[in-house]
Amino acid sequence: MKGLILCAGKGSRLRPLTFSSPKHLLPLMNKPVLFYGIESLIQAGITEIAVVVSPVYRKIFDEELQAGKPWNIDISLIDQPQPRGLADAIRVAKHFIQHDDFLLYLGDNVIDGPLQPLIDKFQAENLDGLVSVSHVDSPEQFGVVQLEGEKIKRVVEKPKHPPSNLAINGVYLFRHSLFDAIAKITPSPRGEYELTDAIQQLIDDKYQLGVYRSPYWWKDTGHPNDLIICNQYLLKKMTGIDINGLIDINSNISSPVSIGKNAQIINSVIRGPVIIGQNTVIENSYIGPFSSISDNVSIYNCEIENSIVMENTVLDSIPYRVDESLIGREVKVIGQPKKPQCIQLWIGDKSHLNFPR
Ligand code: G1P
Repeated sequence: MKGLILCAGKGSRLRPLTFSSPKHLLPLMNKPVLFYGIESLIQAGITEIAVVVSPVYRKIFDEELQAGKPWNIDISLIDQPQPRGLADAIRVAKHFIQHDDFLLYLGDNVIDGPLQPLIDKFQAENLDGLVSVSHVDSPEQFGVVQLEGEKIKRVVEKPKHPPSNLAINGVYLFRHSLFDAIAKITPSPRGEYELTDAIQQLIDDKYQLGVYRSPYWWKDTGHPNDLIICNQYLLKKMTGIDINGLIDINSNISSPVSIGKNAQIINSVIRGPVIIGQNTVIENSYIGPFSSISDNVSIYNCEIENSIVMENTVLDSIPYRVDESLIGREVKVIGQPKKPQCIQLWIGDKSHLNFPR
């Protein structure tokens, strides 16, 4: 069984963060979203893994996979030259899959549960495909399955009138037959080769497609709020206290908390669950529950809660509490004492700023 992780999506709903980074490498608890998927595959015993990426971001993926790599397997990168949809991203990986069965994982999803039960079901029932689904309240935003018994009769992508509440949660098992189905489909009205069309083609060609009703927590991290919720969920599972940095006598820390090497906490309150990266300085500040602060960040005279702050950012004297925020890399947000008391904005395209009035 091989593993194929698709990470070539544009991440347009996460701009401006995705102008400089693929969404799959944005951090949750200071670890790239993609790493959660890779670890799930490895935990299920899959060691031959390829990640399909956009050539624009290949170098960033390569660096991140080399640097982060807490696992000892090699992960191949495969370019999808044009963003022509999920089915096209699978097609470009045909030489990697060859004639093996494979687990397909959409790289912006986080599932808090093992993948082994899916593999067991796929093999035990000798299926041609298996689609993992979750029961959701708003299936309109996902691929949705219609069942006949426990077999899939129809799949529809983001339907206006969903035939069920069972949303495709980004994990699938396929055989080589999927490539034949992909060869038969044509682009959708939005110009992409849709994976759901390829799955429907398999069904029309009388292949047996099963469904795995996943009981596990799952989040597609396509939207800023999804990242905040996912970060919260992961931090909620944190236990204990792991301190590798320095905390001065005037600071107050409540667990669960993790503080990285060479971090400094000066005259501050850290109320967990919170993770703070290496070489980060927090001074005269409050870092409240569900915050992930990355490496090399400096925070002075600020109050932050429920937020993700990425590497090399400086936050200084922000006059309001920062809540439910996503702050990218190398950002500077600085309160100035000088007159006139105004806001000066040097922000990029598609930025969002909400402040009290
Ligand atoms: C994709 C798939 C959809 C699936 C979803 C899961 O949608 O096309 O069928 O339900 O992932 O995350 P996207 O998130 O790319 O819009």
